Amino acid sequence: MENKSIFDLETVYLDDKNNAVIMLDQTLVPNEIKYLQLTTQPEIWAAIYELRVRGAPAIGITAGYGAYLGIKQSTATDFDTFFNEFKAVKEYLASSRPTAVNLFWALKKMETCLLSNKDKSIPEIKTALREQAEEIKAEDIRTNKAIGEFGLSLIQPNSGVLTHCNAGSLATGKYGTATAPMYLGQERGYNLKVFADETRPLLQGARLTTFELAAAGIDVTLICDNMAATVMKKGWIQAVFVGCDRVAANGDTANKIGTAGVAILAHEYGIPFYVCAPSSTIDMETPTGEQIEIELRKPEEIYRKWYSKPMAPEQGVKFYNPAFDVTDAKYITSIITEFGIARPPYIRTLPQIFEKKHSSEQR
Ligand code: MRU
Repeated sequence: MENKSIFDLETVYLDDKNNAVIMLDQTLVPNEIKYLQLTTQPEIWAAIYELRVRGAPAIGITAGYGAYLGIKQSTATDFDTFFNEFKAVKEYLASSRPTAVNLFWALKKMETCLLSNKDKSIPEIKTALREQAEEIKAEDIRTNKAIGEFGLSLIQPNSGVLTHCNAGSLATGKYGTATAPMYLGQERGYNLKVFADETRPLLQGARLTTFELAAAGIDVTLICDNMAATVMKKGWIQAVFVGCDRVAANGDTANKIGTAGVAILAHEYGIPFYVCAPSSTIDMETPTGEQIEIELRKPEEIYRKWYSKPMAPEQGVKFYNPAFDVTDAKYITSIITEFGIARPPYIRTLPQIFEKKHSSEQR
């Protein structure tokens, strides 16, 4: 990483010439920096499922590229056949992970693009799909910059901030969501002190967030998940910033397992708890957190994955490994979007965010 910025490390990009999605294999970070070249739909599906690429926005970007590549080599000559092939690709990629709404959002964007170019030739539709996929990534980068500005406006220089999981540059097109205010603060001399929860069982906080922030020269301290109350009680934390996988219309928010506990602790200690949410992660069609499907993952991730020997008896023990939890809206101080900061009651303020989005699209 010498003389190189963390932002030179692209999470995912399209290699159109070689019909490939190129992605940093995040399962290997921080010990190895290795890029994967994926050309088939099963490879792309598996990379999402296995968390080689992860984080809601990065999953969406990958799905956009995947859908384009999945249909690029179609030999269909009529629109209906082409569209049916696209729908099969879309459904397949959509089955890779259930919780992050960006996956479905990106695939829907691709479908809308395809349908709005219906009257064009198949090669022209393919070009439009490639442009749409690139735009999903470009939009994400613009979004994160805006979230960074709004987020930084909520904290004072020299603050301690706590984050959970990795909602960083690696989880997005660039800059991250929860980390965007941290990177901006670094640029502006804020001297923030970041506490990163390790984030069991897959250690996205330990492996990815500390890697990113340390590479950017940000003061970062790794803590185990069960240490958050201690650092809060000591007065070391002035704000919590987290990302999200899906925000329901009432503000309930699904994010990495453990987030809800952090929010409840922050409430107890009077610390503001901020959710950084691109509008692409806000799902107005899901009324409350109750309706959000929570991904269940393999038991091995809890007791075996990171250890040379199993850390629990393999017989006679049941395992429960939900990948996400839902933080009730009542614990969320604000939801920071690229169109501004929504405050409770979210049922009223989230639609205002979408009004701003629509008027900015009409300009
Ligand atoms: O299982 P993961 O690693 O995909 O979970 C990621 C998170 O929970 C992130 O906080 C969320 O996707 C936001 S990323 C900007």
